[in-house]
Amino acid sequence: LPSAAHSSPLFLFMDPSRVPGRNIIVFYGSQTGTAEEFANRLSKDAHRYGMRGMTADPEEYDLADLSSLPEIENSLVIFCMATYGEGDPTDNAQDFYDWLQETDMDLSGVKFAVSCPKTAVGSWWPAAPPLGLRMLKSERQPSRPPPHSQQPGQAAHETLSSALDPSTKRASPPCPQPQSASGGIGCWRLKARAVWLDKQDLAGLGELEPRPSGEGGLPGLPPLPRGWRLAVDGAGRSLERSLFRVQRWPSVPRSARRLVGQKPAGDPSSSASAVGPPTLPPWHYLLVFGLGNKTYEHFNAMGKYVDKRLEQLGAQRIFDLGLGDDDGNLEEDFITWREQFWPAVCEHFGVEATGEESSIRQYELVVHSDIDAAKVYMGEMGRLKSYENQKPPFDAKNPFLAAVTTNRKLNQGTERHLMHLELDISDSKIRYESGDHVAVYPANDSALVNQLGKILGADLDVIMSLNNLDARPRHHPRLRHHLLPRHHPSPRHHPLPRQPPILRRRPHPPSPAFLFPTEESNKKHPFPCPTSYRTALTYYLDITNPPRTNVLYELAQYASEPSEQELLRKMASSSGEGKELYLSWVVEARRHILAILQDCPSLRPPIDHLCELLPRLQARYYSIASSSKVHPNSVHICAVVVEYETKAGRINKGVATNWLRAKEPARENGGRALVPMFVRKSQFRLPFKATTPVIMVGPGTGVAPFMGFIQERAWLQQQGKEVGETLLYYGCRRSDEDYLYREELAQFHKDGTLTQLNVAFSREQAHKVYVQHLLKRDGEHLWKLIEGGAHIYVCGDARNMAKDVQNTFCDIVAELGAMEHAQAVDYIKKLMTKGRYSLDVWS
Ligand code: FAD
Ligand code: 2AM
Repeated sequence: LPSAAHSSPLFLFMDPSRVPGRNIIVFYGSQTGTAEEFANRLSKDAHRYGMRGMTADPEEYDLADLSSLPEIENSLVIFCMATYGEGDPTDNAQDFYDWLQETDMDLSGVKFAVSCPKTAVGSWWPAAPPLGLRMLKSERQPSRPPPHSQQPGQAAHETLSSALDPSTKRASPPCPQPQSASGGIGCWRLKARAVWLDKQDLAGLGELEPRPSGEGGLPGLPPLPRGWRLAVDGAGRSLERSLFRVQRWPSVPRSARRLVGQKPAGDPSSSASAVGPPTLPPWHYLLVFGLGNKTYEHFNAMGKYVDKRLEQLGAQRIFDLGLGDDDGNLEEDFITWREQFWPAVCEHFGVEATGEESSIRQYELVVHSDIDAAKVYMGEMGRLKSYENQKPPFDAKNPFLAAVTTNRKLNQGTERHLMHLELDISDSKIRYESGDHVAVYPANDSALVNQLGKILGADLDVIMSLNNLDARPRHHPRLRHHLLPRHHPSPRHHPLPRQPPILRRRPHPPSPAFLFPTEESNKKHPFPCPTSYRTALTYYLDITNPPRTNVLYELAQYASEPSEQELLRKMASSSGEGKELYLSWVVEARRHILAILQDCPSLRPPIDHLCELLPRLQARYYSIASSSKVHPNSVHICAVVVEYETKAGRINKGVATNWLRAKEPARENGGRALVPMFVRKSQFRLPFKATTPVIMVGPGTGVAPFMGFIQERAWLQQQGKEVGETLLYYGCRRSDEDYLYREELAQFHKDGTLTQLNVAFSREQAHKVYVQHLLKRDGEHLWKLIEGGAHIYVCGDARNMAKDVQNTFCDIVAELGAMEHAQAVDYIKKLMTKGRYSLDVWS
């Protein structure tokens, strides 16, 4: 056997002597956990066919090592790739994506399959796919005063000339690998060619403005070759605004945006410094080169790209790409793909496709009867005790505990609850821009948690760990003999030699132990452990979404009543009848796990198995409803509390909004209500130039980011800046019921910041009046503004409103621009790619 076969840190999975010839690794690109969940299911499936699988986060591995995979007999790599935003990779797949674009590695012999579980909302009308990019290295010009003998701008001219000279491209030294990477960001991730020039370099060039087209050069600077883009922050402010322009150019990969957005103020190549705040010092200039392949299709763009690219690189596809539609029934798309996928894999490897469905435990329960309380997780997302001992930088793995300082109801009446919250971020070093999102980690309702404990007869305060059983023989409750040691000698009896890795781990900051515990990867625990069941069910596990079919399947064995067992098995099966039943009984009736336990009284799984099966509770995102110019120390949220009656007659409550609603603002004598949060940068940004007109469309809570935008434009005016037309199209049911921020908006209108405040009251007359009706009414003026360079922003409901509004803009363009419908559509698409039509929508 080739020696490489023994040398992976994944050797426990990939070692052919232990798992003869069948080795499966499932990489996931996941933003909200769905792709990861599906990857875990595929990995688990593998065991049903006598193979061994594992899931892996591409951010953790050097994917270049994939080329060694064929050395492992009968190995297969599966990619479960979600698509995010406007055809982008998910954050954790960004580096993999960048690598795929650049590599010309021969992957022949690598066997692969790709499944796309999901495209994020709002992407039904894509801006541009991240295809066909070619990016160059980064370099920074040292800051130096211009010699007196130089003409104004000469230094800039020289620097740019040299940067643009094709012969210097190859000569530029490779960026050093950072000693301490943080969040996967480092110099070597910058695939764009970036040239920073100092203020002095540009002295005498006069005021520079970025150009929407970005091409053609600037006065005093060398002409830019075709395809080059220049972003300039002429005002000496942070580069954020310029970056926004760059971000909007479709050919710039997120890595470039991330790097530039987060690199410390020092020399980008001085990698030893920790990654700093998300702004660059003023007066740096960014030049980015990209070749974009413009098409407008980006439904599942990432999965499609990976599938196509791997084939181009010589890898062998062993099953067709699977496409999941988030708007449809994602679960059904996935199981339909999967049920054809596994027989194809078996046929390919010459394995008998018995595929007997069986329950397999991935984790074993360890109860800690006597444990030091200081070692027990209490809800932290990453580092133990990170909530007691808060240390920046704050991000998804290290959220900041922000105190709620304001929590007020925005509407009248009792039917609904719309609220405005303010989170205190002083001393957190968190910075944000208008248009960014704040993510909050909510907690499940304690009443639901208690009911779960009660119905399962479990003591919720037991301290336990769920430890990954990988590297051990599978525990199989019913078919133990089937899967055990014939092929799987226990590592306890046959310790394996440690060898250099095939799939090398990236240099990474120390990771929370529950994520990357051991050399052999795969999560050591499904959530931070040791912890109590109460903590797990409150902070770590999703107990309110309808469970997926694999959960039902695994739970079925614990139903003592045959009819209930049959019901659960049927819903988990791939039969048409089963799928329909699952759709109506679980999905449409929004039955969560407690409801299922209540409606199947004989179903009583052990609580540890249930905790193993439930997916992780996800953070919720909110469009920040404030401007950091006006509120540098607080982040505002505008949200509607989710509460609805299910078809089965239960009242379901949204996790985060009900939890937020109950947060009482800090009182002088009382304790503080805290919210674990972090800020996620978005591309929803005001125009670079304050004079550019903006048209904002945001009915309901879609007004949220516009509160930030309007505050910012008012602030600019106060600074004496000339500010362009600012139009808001807002919609609600009735003027006296749910007109959010009525007084604030009226004041902004009065003082001239809002040049137009258009409100559609949908239920004040017999027929519906929506924002798009008002847009249509104002078509002529809007068309003038658009032709004059206005930026359009749409925020709120993705499923109906955003589409209707977009169609209305198309109609306006067609009618007033005298275009055919197709031309008008194209016109709007172009606005999108130029960052002049932006969406911030959710469903
Ligand atoms: P969950 O527990 O997540 O329950 C919500 C789910 O319940 C829904 O997904 C749906 O499946 C189901 N559901 C809801 N109503 C019904 C019904 N009537 N019938 C059947 N099923 C139903 N929200 C805001 O309020 N303001 C914002 O500014 C905002 N900005 C966002 C920005 C982004 C980028 C994203 C992705 C989302 C944003 N959201 C915003 C939505 C927000 O993140 C949450 O999804 C929302 O607040 C609900 O969270 P929850 O935990 O309370 O509800
Ligand atoms: P409705 O509830 O009366 O139908 C905020 O939710 C506002 O958006 C409400 O006035 C709501 O009206 C309206 N709305 C609902 N569907 C819409 C759509 N497709 N386009 C625009 N506004 C819509």
